[in-house]
Amino acid sequence: MAKIKKIYVCNNCGANSPKWIGNCPSCNEWNTYHEEILMKSTPQEEKRNIWKGTNGRDPAPVALAEIKAGETRRLITPDDELNRVLGGGIVSGSLVLIGGQPGIGKSTLMLQVALSVPVKILYVSGEESEEQIKMRADRLGKLQSNCFILTETNTSKILSHAKSLDPDLLIIDSIQTLSSPHLDSTPGSVSQIRDCTAELQRFAKETNIPVFIIGHITKDGAIAGPKILEHIVDAVLQFEGDRNYTYRILRTIKNRFGSTDEMGIYEMQANGLREVSNPSEILLSQNEEELSGSAVAATMEGMRPMLIETQALVSTAVYGTPQRTATGFDLRRLSMLLAVLEKRMGFPFGQNDVFLNIAGGIKVDDPAIDLAIVASLISSLQDVSIPSDTCFAGEVGLSGEIRAVNRVEQRIQEADRLGFKQIFISKYNLKGLDISRFSIDIFTLGKVEELYRNLFQ
Ligand code: TYD
Ligand code: MG
Repeated sequence: MAKIKKIYVCNNCGANSPKWIGNCPSCNEWNTYHEEILMKSTPQEEKRNIWKGTNGRDPAPVALAEIKAGETRRLITPDDELNRVLGGGIVSGSLVLIGGQPGIGKSTLMLQVALSVPVKILYVSGEESEEQIKMRADRLGKLQSNCFILTETNTSKILSHAKSLDPDLLIIDSIQTLSSPHLDSTPGSVSQIRDCTAELQRFAKETNIPVFIIGHITKDGAIAGPKILEHIVDAVLQFEGDRNYTYRILRTIKNRFGSTDEMGIYEMQANGLREVSNPSEILLSQNEEELSGSAVAATMEGMRPMLIETQALVSTAVYGTPQRTATGFDLRRLSMLLAVLEKRMGFPFGQNDVFLNIAGGIKVDDPAIDLAIVASLISSLQDVSIPSDTCFAGEVGLSGEIRAVNRVEQRIQEADRLGFKQIFISKYNLKGLDISRFSIDIFTLGKVEELYRNLFQ
């Protein structure tokens, strides 16, 4: 007989102790300890279990070359962006976590998948009633008869329903609402989340049914939750975007079955999420006029080239301390670029307010966007517009040097395809590059001063 042992676990940081403590010694929070039950095997059972492999056989070392790799079965969904992010479809028996801030569209995305994949699906919701889900489904406009809804939060009941229904895909919305009957801590606590995920993982591996888990995270990741289960699941996808804009990005944070460089782009519309297969065209503003302060960057998001418009507004500071505001770009990096321009070229940014905006509310991490930002800053400061058929790809270093960026060919190709006439890149990118392949004019730069001479003088 297995023996039941109780321990106390901190809701906030996951630390544990054999007895209840009021103030957690590891994270200093008060009143966060909750009881958790551990099943402990008796010494006889342990002796019997210790040499058993997963299916009762004794595992012995096997040469890697002799192991036959089983063909991973994948369920290809009609959603190409999701397939791409998952590395080519949903792998059977995989456990996938979709994290994101509340209200970003996780439930919508999953319900859309549930309604469009022509297999049997069980959608478990602990957040919405059946009627609410039905209303949402009507709004999405697609209805398939093989989608079953279950509004339940008890993990054991969910899994027993899932076993009897035997769906091809199980969706859990959300992990924070689930509770395991074996624990008496509240739903959403660390021990509940960890325990329920472990149960779902066991279910996925035993039945080979893929399971999607939705998890909420707050902006600063303060509430413990999905973070602690990232190592349990097979793939972690993050759904992100600015709520004031309609674009959403689905990123891969971890994937045991594919690359983490992939990402998918969606647009939130009145009738659900629409896949955006050609992001460049929407991220360039449709302005015919050439305005000062805007420049186009040839960036890469994961493996996909994307042309994005950057906009800067530089105006005389009214207060003593000039303001710096950036949307979609790291504010510290903006300060760094301003410092470089001030120090190397003597531009008086210290007396000006600077506002920077990346089109579409998309957050860009690619350092190759630096050159376009520098160009838009100078353009706004001098009130000289940059020709709209010009784009940029280069990283700016602390001494004002323009550094080489990765995958420059793909960037040039995308700019060429979209009809741009000239692109500015780093001169260090020229090595091994076959310029004659492109019809776009390629200008190379070594320092920011050269950018200024080429564009504004
Ligand atoms: P939801 O999927 O409920 O977010 P989450 O599950 O991540 O908390 O989506 C919330 C937002 O999406 C909501 O504010 C309304 C918007 N929305 C649309 O714009 N169009 C739609 O068709 C749907 C279903 C939702
Ligand atoms: Mg939701």
